[in-house]
Amino acid sequence: MTVKVAPYIQKITPYRPGKPISEVERELGIYDTVKMASNENPLGPSPKVTEAIRADLPYIHLYPDGNAFYLKHAIMRHLARHHVKMDELLIGNGSNEVIDVLLRALCTPEEELLVSAQAFMVYELIAKAANIPTVLVPLAKDHRFDIPGYIERINEKTKLIALVNPNNPTGTYYTKKEFEALLSYVPERCVVLVDEAYYEYVDAPDCPNAMEYRKDFENLVICRTFSKAFGLSGLRLGYGVTTAEIGDTYRKVRAPFNVNELAQVAGVAALEDTDYLRRSIETNRKGKEYFYAELRRMELEFLPSQGNFLLVRVGGGETGGAECYENLLREGIIIRPVNNYGFPDWIRISIGLPEQNQRCIAALEAYLRNEGRVR
Ligand SMILES: Cc1ncc(COP(=O)(O)O)c(C=O)c1O
Repeated sequence: MTVKVAPYIQKITPYRPGKPISEVERELGIYDTVKMASNENPLGPSPKVTEAIRADLPYIHLYPDGNAFYLKHAIMRHLARHHVKMDELLIGNGSNEVIDVLLRALCTPEEELLVSAQAFMVYELIAKAANIPTVLVPLAKDHRFDIPGYIERINEKTKLIALVNPNNPTGTYYTKKEFEALLSYVPERCVVLVDEAYYEYVDAPDCPNAMEYRKDFENLVICRTFSKAFGLSGLRLGYGVTTAEIGDTYRKVRAPFNVNELAQVAGVAALEDTDYLRRSIETNRKGKEYFYAELRRMELEFLPSQGNFLLVRVGGGETGGAECYENLLREGIIIRPVNNYGFPDWIRISIGLPEQNQRCIAALEAYLRNEGRVR
């Protein structure tokens, strides 16, 4: 029997994640595959995290703490400089859930979401599922966020303004000055959501830390994640920092036990392992330097990145990125085509361990040489 589904739901194309290693190996009959497609941490989890999880396994027959008390305290300690209070913290099953719940809790179909046309896809998807109209701001010519373009599009219906800094998939960032200009223009009734999923990797001195603007603009939400530099993608854990008022609204809409027991324990251990965080950032920095040097040698265009991934122009027209992806897949290297982000002849590569980076460059060079696109 056909179930009646609302037209705005029918129109949705589901999010396509990077292929898992097991699926690629099963389909192609290969092994020793490396995944450089989903901006995960190539170091594997912190041993302190796996130890904490093991110690907590006897308790997984019980529901987790619905208020995530110890995790919230660990995050508050981590953010001590910003004086975050317990009720100003939002905890989610990945920062994805924080974004999802906030959008649905704060916006009605009569209001608008304002977001970049070429930023993390999930914003548009969530809005579609909740029937919230979205106004898209194309990237500027230099592939950075068009802050004047955001300002121009703010109108009386605008409710939530979403920014991703640094942005995925470009790795580009907007400056403190640009952020300040935007905040000074945003009406008080709007909420500004700043997605800082890659914050820990940032080293550009003029890139803003949105936490520092909480005093300047009240309705600010800063989303961060444990999936990247903290190496916990598989456990799903993220958080937001905002006002107690927005926090109360969030808690009305989120599911009662949205963050599982092991994720809570792992989050506390991950925040304590500052050495792991330092190694993650350093491995990423060195990996990016290696890629920059190799891509320059091959005379390939790329965007310098503040994240743990790089956008590289491989050429080949409308299907260039997808073809490059298919070819590298057969060599056991999973990267990400980005045609869905409006970059059909580019690919996104997540920074890996040194030997993974070398394999990726070797396969990319062999493919592009064969295509006559590098000398
Ligand atoms: C910009 C951005 N925001 C949010 C997320 C979601 O992260 P998670 O739900 O794993 O915290 C990602 C994941 O890739 C991302 O790139």
